[in-house]
Amino acid sequence: MSTEDRIIVRGGKRLEGNVVVGGSKNAAVAIICASAMIKGKVTLENIPKITDIQVLLDTLSQIGATVNWTAEKTVQIDTTDIKSYVCDNIDLSTLRGSYYFVGSLLGRFRQAKVVFPGGCNFAPRPIDQHIYAFETLGCTVETTGGYITAKARKLVGNNIYFDNYSVGATINSILAATLAEGTTTIENANREPHVVDVANFLNIMGADIKGAGTNTIRIKGVKELLGGKSYSVCPDMIEAGTLMIAAAATRGTITLHNVTPEHMDSLSTKLTEMGVIIETMDDSITVKANIKRVKSTNIKTMPYPGFPTDLHPQFATLLSIADGESRITEGVFPTRFQYVEQLHKLGANIQLSGESAIIKGVPKLIGAPVSPTDLRAAAAMVIAGLMAEGQTTIHNLEYLDRGYEDFIEKLKSLKAVIERGK
Ligand code: EPU
Repeated sequence: MSTEDRIIVRGGKRLEGNVVVGGSKNAAVAIICASAMIKGKVTLENIPKITDIQVLLDTLSQIGATVNWTAEKTVQIDTTDIKSYVCDNIDLSTLRGSYYFVGSLLGRFRQAKVVFPGGCNFAPRPIDQHIYAFETLGCTVETTGGYITAKARKLVGNNIYFDNYSVGATINSILAATLAEGTTTIENANREPHVVDVANFLNIMGADIKGAGTNTIRIKGVKELLGGKSYSVCPDMIEAGTLMIAAAATRGTITLHNVTPEHMDSLSTKLTEMGVIIETMDDSITVKANIKRVKSTNIKTMPYPGFPTDLHPQFATLLSIADGESRITEGVFPTRFQYVEQLHKLGANIQLSGESAIIKGVPKLIGAPVSPTDLRAAAAMVIAGLMAEGQTTIHNLEYLDRGYEDFIEKLKSLKAVIERGK
């Protein structure tokens, strides 16, 4: 797909119908990198077809793995012949999760040299906690010349105590500790479903990781991980949340399939408070928003099980038409407000105050051209377009393509009037 494309949405149509949510981007990104620690074939199911994933699979091929899509969402990776610990695919600098190659290649080769990660630029994104964890396990780490270079004569298990919650540093520590000698304890670990998914994947391949999903994770190092097995990646809670918010924003009724309802609790609770009906089954959620206007509310984003920062821009978009004044406080990335300028173009009334956005609900948004500058802001603009009167044109689609699989097709199947083209 060309990144010169744009999306044209004609707003005002209620979303209706059924939609199947894809596999988690942030779990798949980590699991694909983690597969470099295994010797043999692994089959990964429920992998989303998005550009971040393709860049990582290309990188695996470049270092010697054999990668084949064997079905629509299934990829088989044979890591037997991985020979290089150097990941110099320049495209790695466009995404964040590329730093997981450091943890996994350290496990396999005791050294790694990986292009410095990039990803959405909505806040400073230091990697000091990753470096601290690698050093605690016995590595030396340098970040010069556009690379992260890490080396260890021996990787030795140790106690890792994080100063702040970091999904990436938690996962990278799990990766490096899995093939270390002895036991590692991670305190202040993140509890996100994708952290648990990575641990489940590694355990199936022979790792010994306990406590994932709590704030303390214990990893007994093992000598090797062996392939010959399959793993299905967990559903994408952010894609699910984006679609739930889109349903509420268009006063629609949709049912999402392939979701884990408990992962959505923070959002479901807020939507219920705002007057939306949420019905859950084992692996599906129905959102019914047959109401005149949602009520205003306040949220603070926090690590899981708190309200996810990756749903902040989408939720702010919904609140922009709520009845009353709402406040969103960003508790993970204090400057994640780039979407506000774009929403102003459609007539939203949002003021920033420190780490909060104060949103005074307006009766409606009016369509306009918008150019979001990060992934979740791009999803927010699609929602804004679906809600707004008239036409909204969304540019900069490279962001949306990084993280949402078949997004436009899925919205069309829910009766949205939306097209992608030049
Ligand atoms: N932080 C540090 N030092 C570190 C690492 C993080 O100070 O070494 C700080 C960050 O600056 C931030 C906070 O800790 O203030 C949390 O950052 P975290 O490390 O948890 O974020 P991340 O691992 O870089 C992942 C997701 C993001 C998601 C965040 C928070 C991936 C590939 N990325 O990023 O996803 O926003 O966790 O949940 O998993 C997205 O999908 O759109 C996205 C940005």
